[in-house]
Amino acid sequence: MARITAGVATSHVPAIGAAMDLGKTAEPYWQPVFAGYDWSRQWIAQEKPDVVVLVYNDHASAFDMKIIPTFAIGCADRYGICDEGWGPRPVPDVEGHADLAWHIAQSLILDEFDMTMINEMDVDHGLTVPLSLMFGQPEAWPVKVIPLAVNVVTYPPPSGNRCWMLGEAIARAVESFPEDLNVQVWGTGGMSHQLQGPRAGLINAEWDNRFLDLMSAEDDGALRAIPHIEYLRETGSEGIEMVMWLIMRGALGRKVRPLHRHYHVPASNTAVGHLVLEPVI
Ligand code: DHB
Ligand code: FE
Repeated sequence: MARITAGVATSHVPAIGAAMDLGKTAEPYWQPVFAGYDWSRQWIAQEKPDVVVLVYNDHASAFDMKIIPTFAIGCADRYGICDEGWGPRPVPDVEGHADLAWHIAQSLILDEFDMTMINEMDVDHGLTVPLSLMFGQPEAWPVKVIPLAVNVVTYPPPSGNRCWMLGEAIARAVESFPEDLNVQVWGTGGMSHQLQGPRAGLINAEWDNRFLDLMSAEDDGALRAIPHIEYLRETGSEGIEMVMWLIMRGALGRKVRPLHRHYHVPASNTAVGHLVLEPVI
């Protein structure tokens, strides 16, 4: 059977992708950002996951105000790289796992999560920056990816509790897939950041670190009870991206073992946070 072996959370700041693409990772500004991923790159090279269910948000690249799916799953064999205004990032196309994706879509919908299915889509920095952080700059990504896109761009985004429950349903879906596959779930976005308006540049390291503590601890309901308004007030308008981490966390079950943690400010206008977690069965 397929099994979920680990969860990864990471910010997906576009400037991190640009720093890698332009060969700037050793510069003093960027070095401490990337140093926090050294452990993870070695770890994942040994773990060799077959598939990553990569929870991310599209930033008005593939979707726009015409259609706003709350939860969408990529069921394609391949995804191109978006042009976000400076040409597509020079990274490989992303290979999907259509069989597992359709299985998850069916399982989720019968489990009463009304997913949008996507057969054709380009992916933006929300998905490619985490791949770059975890795998560096390979000729081809060493893993198949099932994009799971969440609306956190246009109000109203889904609640943290709903995201957690979707994660639990993803775990049920993966565990009922008959092929023997090593599957990871990644949650991306965050941490505190506000990109516009009078509070632009807002960083709340204390709140972020409490969130990292809660993500790493046994579930007592506190994490999923955080309301939208708290993310907005405490972590800025784009901090709501962190609800996507709860999909990953819900997929791992009540108890997890934290394997690695990294937090750094700043990267662009953003706090960078990263966790590697293992389910404890
Ligand atoms: C920026 C954009 C993002 O989507 C994000 O998650 C963090 C930072 C930015 O434009 O700096
Ligand atoms: Fe983002």
